[in-house]
This record gives sequence, C-alpha cells and structure tokens, in this order.
Amino acid sequence: MRIGILTSGGDCPGLNAVIRAAVLTGMKHHGHEFVGIRDGYRGLKEGDVRALNRSSVRGTSRIGGTILGTSRTNPYEGEKGGAERIAETLRRLGIDAVMAIGGEGTLAAANRLAGDGIPIVGVPKTIDNDLDATDYTFGFDTAVQIATEAGDRLRTTGDSHMRCMVLEVMGRHVGWIALHTGIATGAHVTLIPEQPRSIEWVCDYVQAVYDRRRAPLVVVSEGFKLEGMDEEYSRKGLDAFDRPRLGGIGEVIAEMIEQRTGIESRATVLGHIQRGGAPSGADRVLATRFGLAAVDAITERAWGTMVSLRGTDIVRVPMSEALGDLKRVPEHRYREAELLFG
Ligand code: F6P
Repeated sequence: MRIGILTSGGDCPGLNAVIRAAVLTGMKHHGHEFVGIRDGYRGLKEGDVRALNRSSVRGTSRIGGTILGTSRTNPYEGEKGGAERIAETLRRLGIDAVMAIGGEGTLAAANRLAGDGIPIVGVPKTIDNDLDATDYTFGFDTAVQIATEAGDRLRTTGDSHMRCMVLEVMGRHVGWIALHTGIATGAHVTLIPEQPRSIEWVCDYVQAVYDRRRAPLVVVSEGFKLEGMDEEYSRKGLDAFDRPRLGGIGEVIAEMIEQRTGIESRATVLGHIQRGGAPSGADRVLATRFGLAAVDAITERAWGTMVSLRGTDIVRVPMSEALGDLKRVPEHRYREAELLFG
C-alpha cells in the first residue's frame, strides 16, 4: 500500500517518533510505501506531499516538533475540501490510506472522513492528556518533565527572596499537567480547571507556608477558574477553531495573593516551552509503539479506528471513542494531591 501520513493540530513532542516507527516497520515488514502530507489537512486537500523513506526519518525520534509541519485546517472547508474532493486527490496521488496523527479536532475530522469512505486511521496525541479513549498520550510526559524542571528552578529563586512563585502550565480544560507538576515539584497549592477555588482558600495555604519560613510555590493550570468566574481567563482572542486562547490566570492569581497577604509574588507562564524540544524517553517509547500499531491497523484496513494505550497494552478502538467527553482529573486524584498542600 501507499500510505500518506499527516500531523495536524498543535504540535507535541513524539510526533516524529510515530512517523519514524510507521515508515520503518511499514517498509521493512509490510512492503508499504510512504508519503508525508505537509501541514496536516491543508496538504491533504491540496495534494501537497513529500517523499518519506528510511533516510528521511533517520534519527528523528529524538527531535521535537513534526518534520511534516502542521496546521489547524478543517478538511471539510474550502473549495478543495470535503470527502469527495479528498478522495479524488488521494486517487491522483496514488495514496491508498491515510494515517492522521492529532488531537480531538483532528480525530473528529478523521472520523467523519472515515464515515464518508476515506481509508483513514488515527493516532492520538496531545500534551494535555485529555483524550478519553487512551490512558495516556505522548507529549504529556515531556510537558510534565519540562514543567517540573521549571517548578524546581522557581523554588530556588523563590527561597532566596522569600517570594510566592506562581507557575502557570498548559492543559486547556483539564488539569493533568498541573496535577502531575504539582506533585512532582512538591508545590504548596495546585489549581486545576476541574476544581474551582476561592482566592481566600489559596491565600490560606500560601500564608501558612510563608509563616513557617518557606517560599510558597503555586502551580496553576491555564484553565483554572476562581470561584465566581463564569469562564476561563482569556485575553488573547480565539484560535482557528474559534476556541478562546487561554493564558494569564497565573498573573491574576499572583497579584491577588500579593494584595491580600502582602507577600511579594511573581508569576511565570511556561507556555509553548512545554510543547517544544526533544520528547522524553517514555514519550518516544509510547509514540513508537503507536506508530507500529497504526501500520498494523492500516494493513488490516481497520478504517475509522485509532490506536490507544490501555494499561501497558496498545489496543485499537473506534475513533468515535475519543470524541465524547474529555478525560478530566477525577476528584479523588485531586484530593490525594491536596493531602500535601500547605
Ligand atoms: O492542546 C495543546 C495546547 O498546548 C493547550 O495546552 C493550549 O491551551 C493550546 O494547545 C495552545 O494552542 P496554540 O498553540 O494554538 O497557542
């Protein structure tokens, strides 16, 4: 078979490891050929492809980003969009199957394309770890590792100045990155979207820590809402999918802490540093295993499915399973972390 691979949506460490594993195993063990589709669904609509072979994927599993480029293009929009036009483009390029690597938006589009007869399988990715159909996604471990290092660094400078340091991490509507970073850094308070809290509640912990001569570290997820806030904090407009661009709640919290407690406070927004650079070892392994399993799914023509991690096994599930509810942090996981706050 001639297989087209695309990466779509926000990038994430580990994308190249999926591509590399798929190309190497597909060529060696199944006799498949590969092409890389540039910039996600944009390249699929426009037939913009490049060759993919052993030499083009050499050494790439340890490199961040995506060698294919990415975009947040909707395959159903525009003159060249829609399943019929895409089927024509695939025929013209001699592509028999598509592997779509992406998050919820990408998989939703892939699922619709599969329903419209496009031979496509999915590979889930996101640093947010919010996809319900898989226990973990690659990119998450790397993001937590980077945020943990940042938190450790904030603690030493915080200790030197006896300041309250607030670290804002990504995660959109879910608090997995914040939860894990908070536990790993020994943060004194962790704030996640699933658990709104009052500023007084936050300040009580901060003050108690300060009173015993420690510099408080607060980890806050970008989607956290203080009690009484109707929506997540967003001052940067909308993204290509009309979703609010989050970021900035850390600064708000730091100012409120300083005003209420008099403790000098500083906020750091980690931002896209969490998505850039080399994937962790664990993410390289998970991404590689996803790549191998996705080639099996294509070889067996399991259109409309995606690969997923269940426990330590890689399994195949309908893509629709990734499109229901987000995988939120359960209350008991937050309560567990809260035992060590303050
Ligand atoms: O979904 C991954 C993610 O990094 C979120 O954590 C974050 O809110 C968003 O993407 C940022 O998107 P963009 O790269 O479009 O600014």
